Parts: sequence; structure tokens; C-alpha cells
Amino acid sequence: MKWEDRISSYVRITGFPRSLFISEDGRVVGTWIMGNDYRVKSGYYGGYPAGYLRRIAALFPDRKRVLHVFSGQVDLTAMPGDTVDSNPAMNPTWVADAHDLSTVPLSTYDLVLADPPYSVEDAERYQTTMVQRNVVMRSLAAGMSADARVVWLDQVLPMYRKDEWSIEAVIGMVKSTNHRFRVTTIFRRLPQQVGTIAGCRKESVQRADEGSPQPDLELCLSGGNVPK
Ligand SMILES: C[S@@+](CC[C@H](N)C(=O)[O-])C[C@H]1O[C@@H](n2cnc3c(N)ncnc32)[C@H](O)[C@@H]1O
Repeated sequence: MKWEDRISSYVRITGFPRSLFISEDGRVVGTWIMGNDYRVKSGYYGGYPAGYLRRIAALFPDRKRVLHVFSGQVDLTAMPGDTVDSNPAMNPTWVADAHDLSTVPLSTYDLVLADPPYSVEDAERYQTTMVQRNVVMRSLAAGMSADARVVWLDQVLPMYRKDEWSIEAVIGMVKSTNHRFRVTTIFRRLPQQVGTIAGCRKESVQRADEGSPQPDLELCLSGGNVPK
């Protein structure tokens, strides 16, 4: 599905004004003014504001399996899916620290929503340490399939590797006066390039020079996600 069609789906399903645009560099940009309805249905500290999940769902009508990372008490009626949280009291599908998602079958999800604590003070509310965003992005990249998306809501653009992710959309989110601005960044997992897996590049280049690249090609591809 092209982004033009996603934006049309968003307008059609939500009935909100067309507030997303494709910039000349091909990325989607825009701002959502959420207005005064900043209630969190669950009342959970830091929960998604009313309407946020509905907007994301409308952008991805073709989604198949959704995973909520840092799930808290996410409203699964608005966006059904599986959940990951480090706090077992949240009753997630997977109790896991987002810095190491190796126990979660990430390759089976095509849409991952992430809503980390934004600051040290926020993390203290959950009695966790502050998230190392780059480590979480690497952990997601290690398991996710090519073309799967991460929808990351934050006050910071997480550090990411350009050989693992491309940014498809940057959407500003404004609630009401005296609330923090946030940004939703939508990343697409790039197909894994032969030679980008640790230890793979040197080996395959050397063997290619020697005239037998094929076995290493297979070795590299079988080590992770195979490009479609
Ligand atoms: C901002 S809240 C998410 C709220 C959620 N979007 C909702 O609507 O309820 C952040 C959540 O991340 C969890 N968390 C904090 N650090 C974590 C980590 N390292 N790994 C996994 N979960 C973590 C907290 O327990 C908390 O539930």
C-alpha cells in the first residue's frame, strides 16, 4: 500500500482533516492537533491519548499482526495485538525488557507500536531505568522482518542504523496547552543486506575475492531476515 493511500485511509476512517503530506523527499510529514480530548481511557500514567490508536489503525488498514512494546495498559479494543512490558503486573503477552527482545517472535509481527518512558522522571514512575533507545531499536531490528514498521511515540528521535531502518513518516503531536509536544516516527525495516550481519561482511568479501561467494551468501541470508 502506498503512503498516498494510507493518508486517504486515515482521512476516510477517522473523518479528521488531511493533516499528513508527502514531502518532496518522499517522507510523510504532518501534525496531529489532538485538541482538548487528552484523556487516557485506562487512567494509566503516560497512556496513549484518546484517539491516537484510532489514527494509527487508520493509517495501517492492511496490518496483520500488531505488537505493542512498552505496552502498559494499552487499549486493545482500539488496536488489538500482543503486548510486551517489563512489568508483569501489566499482564502482557510477553514479559520482557525491550532492550533484549530475543524471546519475542518479532518476525511474526508486521506493525510494532512503541511508547517508551520519555525521560528519567517518567521512567521513575514505572520504577524502571531510563530506556536506551538505540539498544531497543537494535533489538527490534534483530528480529523484525523486512518491510515491517515500528511506530515510535516519543519526545526524542531514537538513534537508529541507516542500514537497518528507513524513516517513512514524522508526525508531530500536539495535545493542549501545558502538555508536552511529542513526535511519532514511523520506521520501516530495510531488507537485510548481505554482509551487514556481524562477522559476515569480511568473510563474504574475502571469499568473493577468492571466487566462491555463494556459500557465504547463503550463510549470511540464513542468519536473519531474507530480503523479499
Ligand atoms: C508510557 S508507558 C506506556 C503506556 C501505554 N502506551 C498505554 O497506553 O498504557 C511505558 C511502559 O513501559 C514499560 N517499560 C519501561 N521500561 C521498560 C523496558 N525497559 N522494557 C519493557 N517495558 C518497559 C513501563 O512498565 C510502562 O508500562
